[in-house]
Amino acid sequence: MNDLRERGWEKIRWVRDHMPILGLLEERYAQEKPLLGKRVAMAIHLEAKTARLALALKALGAEVAVTSSNPLSAKDDVAQALSEEMPVYARGEATEEEYHAFLRKVLSIRPHLVLDDGGDLSYLLHGEAWELGQETLGVCEETTTGVIRLKKLEREGRLRFPAVAVNDAQMKSLFDNRYGTGQSVWDAIMRATNLLVAGKTVLVVGFGWCGKGIAQRARGLGAQVIVAEVDPVKAAEALLEGFQVAPVREAIREADFVVTATGCIDAVT
Ligand SMILES: NC(=O)c1ccc[n+]([C@@H]2O[C@H](COP(=O)([O-])OP(=O)(O)OC[C@H]3O[C@@H](n4cnc5c(N)ncnc54)[C@H](O)[C@@H]3O)[C@@H](O)[C@H]2O)c1
Repeated sequence: MNDLRERGWEKIRWVRDHMPILGLLEERYAQEKPLLGKRVAMAIHLEAKTARLALALKALGAEVAVTSSNPLSAKDDVAQALSEEMPVYARGEATEEEYHAFLRKVLSIRPHLVLDDGGDLSYLLHGEAWELGQETLGVCEETTTGVIRLKKLEREGRLRFPAVAVNDAQMKSLFDNRYGTGQSVWDAIMRATNLLVAGKTVLVVGFGWCGKGIAQRARGLGAQVIVAEVDPVKAAEALLEGFQVAPVREAIREADFVVTATGCIDAVT
């Protein structure tokens, strides 16, 4: 077994011990195999925890095909390990074209069920990959942006299958968005820039669930935090939390780091 693959398995084994609910569900349904005969297409940031989810779906009987939900987010070691168990179409530094091809490959399974994170699979199934969704029973969508895209399809009367907005579950938005993203955003910025956060000025655009967590953690790291938020109630909440509040065009002049967490494009232009 090569080193990369072994490292991937080590990471998957490690998270296994920290995902007890998934473990319990797997234990409970592994005999019954409720997903037998179902094909599942999955596009979620491919790392150890989501690999663990894909393995659990397989243990419950599903045929699973996996990609990541962003061209740059797949962990190569985990992707290699998981590819021993199921088709995996992902690599860590994919181009936009490769990413698009990976999404198409995953959909070529003609999924009954879709696990989406950002709405890219759903979007394809409502357009150029329409024919691959003839047997699709539904999608579960992980994140705010994907839910926004699905709601737009629903408003236009074009949503072709039911969608579960996982993002809107309190156990998701209250915890993953706020504390998970609050932590991982700073981990990513520190690794990418190798800069000290303490003493810097951070502009956080959007004070929703993610923005709150990102702002809190920036403060915890010793930064001065400015929040820009279009919703006046949330802007007031940021102010009463002790953050400086200002429009982007003013705050950006002082900012060393700018983090957008709006779910919209062009929040900073
Ligand atoms: N792990 C991850 O990478 C992860 C996890 C969760 C969410 N997300 C993504 O993060 C983004 C934010 O998610 P959320 O759950 O915090 O959404 P949210 O709806 O709770 O918050 C978004 C906030 O941005 C504000 N906003 C919108 N446009 C703005 C603008 N132009 N200027 C200033 N404020 C603006 C809104 O008023 C709202 O308060 C989404 O794109 C979501 O998909 C990523």
